[in-house]
Amino acid sequence: MDIRINGQLALVTGGSGGIGSAIAWRLASEGALVAVHYLQNREGADETVRKIRDAGGQAESFQADLTKVDQINALIVQIQAYFGASIDILVNNAGQMSRRAPVLELTEEYYAEMMDVNFKSSVFLSKAVLPGMVGKKRGKIVNIASLAAHNGGGLGVSLYASAKAAMLAFTKNMAKEFAGHGIRINAITPGVIANTSNDRFKNEEIRKSIIAGIPLGREGLPEDVAGGVLYLVSNLSAFVTGETIEINGGMSMR
Ligand SMILES: NC(=O)c1ccc[n+]([C@@H]2O[C@H](COP(=O)([O-])OP(=O)(O)OC[C@H]3O[C@@H](n4cnc5c(N)ncnc54)[C@H](OP(=O)(O)O)[C@@H]3O)[C@@H](O)[C@H]2O)c1
Repeated sequence: MDIRINGQLALVTGGSGGIGSAIAWRLASEGALVAVHYLQNREGADETVRKIRDAGGQAESFQADLTKVDQINALIVQIQAYFGASIDILVNNAGQMSRRAPVLELTEEYYAEMMDVNFKSSVFLSKAVLPGMVGKKRGKIVNIASLAAHNGGGLGVSLYASAKAAMLAFTKNMAKEFAGHGIRINAITPGVIANTSNDRFKNEEIRKSIIAGIPLGREGLPEDVAGGVLYLVSNLSAFVTGETIEINGGMSMR
């Protein structure tokens, strides 16, 4: 079976840094054409694109606020017009946990903020690309959730964890609905991944205590998650759908 994804058009959301940038690079190095999405960090997205192009690949950056359905739909139209093809691979990676909030301090605004970027975005991006995938009778969607979806996460991340858990249920339901169309839909739940914006929550002491709880003895890297995505979008996983892959160094085993 071939790991190459030559000529397939991939959209990686949140490709301006961290995990998304590593996913975009990995898919491009196996032959995909990559649409690198960003919200504010154009420089980061363009850096991802430059790295791919310098290595002989094809990529372009695209901006959108994925909490807005009209911007999601416009993004898909723009990408498909630019590459002259419909999207084969969607990686719902954009997401964030801007700050921690205890349950008694939750507000309607914070609820919308967490649910919209971490869950609603993946729902309406999937809805926007699925008709094209059904037309081609092939497609892959990978949803980047979080270990927090399983264990509830640390204190103050209740809504982030809940949005990611919703993402996993949605993954399974969509996988059933579209399996007959040749479309596979899976998820990844990363554990603690270094070299991402999450680093801002950790000092050296916290880092050491986290690593002490990881059997493989280190934090994950964006490249570890990218490897999982490549598996899920290549033919190596041809018989896998509705699955969640845990990428956490053994921190939590299910
Ligand atoms: N890092 C970890 O340890 C870890 C662990 C488990 C799960 N995850 C998940 O993995 C994914 C990537 O994480 P990361 O740590 O690499 O994140 P990151 O570096 O903070 O990147 C987040 C991305 O999401 C984009 N984004 C934020 N709000 C957006 C919005 N409203 N519309 C569109 N895009 C938006 C950002 O765009 P701009 O920067 O361009 O504004 C950025 O590209 C996230 O879904 C995260 O929840 C991360």
